[in-house]
Amino acid sequence: MNTQSWIHHFQTNAAVHDQILFEGQPCTLPEAVRVPVAHSLAIFQLGESGTGSRLRRYAREVAPLENFRGYQRAIDLFVCEEQAHSRLLGRLVGHLGGTLLQKQWTNSVFRRLRFLVNLEFAIQVLLTAELVAEVYYGTLYLRVEDKSVRNACRQILRDEMKHLEFQRQFLAERLATFSPIGRYLWNCQFRLIHALTTRVVAWDHRACLKALGMSRDSFVQRCHQAHERFQARLDGLTNELKCPIQSPQSVHGMPLQP
Ligand SMILES: [Fe+2]
Ligand SMILES: [Fe+2]
Repeated sequence: MNTQSWIHHFQTNAAVHDQILFEGQPCTLPEAVRVPVAHSLAIFQLGESGTGSRLRRYAREVAPLENFRGYQRAIDLFVCEEQAHSRLLGRLVGHLGGTLLQKQWTNSVFRRLRFLVNLEFAIQVLLTAELVAEVYYGTLYLRVEDKSVRNACRQILRDEMKHLEFQRQFLAERLATFSPIGRYLWNCQFRLIHALTTRVVAWDHRACLKALGMSRDSFVQRCHQAHERFQARLDGLTNELKCPIQSPQSVHGMPLQP
């Protein structure tokens, strides 16, 4: 895993979030949209606000491995970026006249679930949330007629797409060490947990989705498609790591290397 490129990416991306300004752009959304969107964003704000202490502790376990050198530093910067999302969403909820939350049941379940097993599972649960976030922030970006919401969601969406790639590279390295049956079982439980999560999120954010004219089924369907795309790319990268493509040694019997 090229952890140095991720460290560079997170470092150069760090200044972006606090520069997104909402001042001078009053919210003109109708109440029927503003209130449920603000509440929904407050739930996501809480989800992004973790300190990542246990994730960092787990990351220390893989730190001695040669292909994960620097991963711990990358995870530190990744957690900082998620916290920047939390700050940005906090300002956005304020812009929408909403109230920040201290506790919320789906967030509590997610946090407990994330640290049940090991680093791979912690990353997987995080990844599940990020796959849902891809659809969620994309929906808000396209359907909320407010410049501040759109600016914030566009930036978070860009970041989350990078996070998906970051998790994909980590998981591919790990899955490449699994047996075929181990990988199959891992894929099955990932699919199941993702499917359950999307239904819970769709139900939890039903008022927001309804205000934006999106059905719960449609949201679930889009999340399912996001998962399928991710799984296909993950399989591709895992196979590459298991069976690296050998460059040809010769063409028509003529050696390419002297
Ligand atoms: Fe995030
Ligand atoms: Fe993320």
